Amino acid sequence: MRRKLAAGNWKMNGLVDDLAQIKALTDAHPAPDVDMLICAPATLIAQMAWARGPHPMQIGGQDCHAARSGAHTGDISAPMLRDAGASHVIVGHSERRADHGETDADVAAKATAANASGLIAVICIGETLAQREAGEALAVVTGQLRGSLPEGATAANTVVAYEPVWAIGTGKVPTTDQIAEIHGALRHALRDVMREAEAVRLLYGGSVKGANAAEIFAVADVDGALVGGASLTAEDFSPIVTALENA
Ligand code: PGA
Repeated sequence: MRRKLAAGNWKMNGLVDDLAQIKALTDAHPAPDVDMLICAPATLIAQMAWARGPHPMQIGGQDCHAARSGAHTGDISAPMLRDAGASHVIVGHSERRADHGETDADVAAKATAANASGLIAVICIGETLAQREAGEALAVVTGQLRGSLPEGATAANTVVAYEPVWAIGTGKVPTTDQIAEIHGALRHALRDVMREAEAVRLLYGGSVKGANAAEIFAVADVDGALVGGASLTAEDFSPIVTALENA
């Protein structure tokens, strides 16, 4: 009942030349059995939408401001992302939380703005290594979830990505038992706050590669992945899409 989602996060990577990867990716998956999404740097969204052509691949931003417009030099609003061709936006990525001091309340405000503009918010949560070692992982992520979900969140306008901070870009991946424990707890926490909890997609993110994707996708309540480094080339991302199609 939950359509699976293979999402890429290009982060601060990608120039016009890299749009060749989108062509290669859409050519490799002309009629994907899962949803495909690339969250591009804002500079590339419009051109990526053009490069995608009629392919169902979706395009997202990586952050948005909570306001629709105004005197916020350097920021990008949800209506701007939508206007450029985005259907999704990542909010609350741990790099934003760490580098820009974003709180759960900030993330909820951004998700609200995203939804108000018709964008699907991909809300990221995840514990640090210190929090995991202190036995706090479950409490941290369920607290982040409750604090970051906007009022009015539905299964249609919200995706949740569990991304342990210590697994992002490190090559370290939690065990499948650890992922199952967190995803199960997140599903449970969603039931407390939303009627559509069963239909919300829960992604895992953090060092997902072609080589470990199938194992991760076999975990209960994992509905796809949010992939950083391995989303930058079609060669690396395509096997992840295939693993999700086969899950
Ligand atoms: P990674 O990043 O796949 O490079 O670990 C994941 C993310 O930050 O979304």
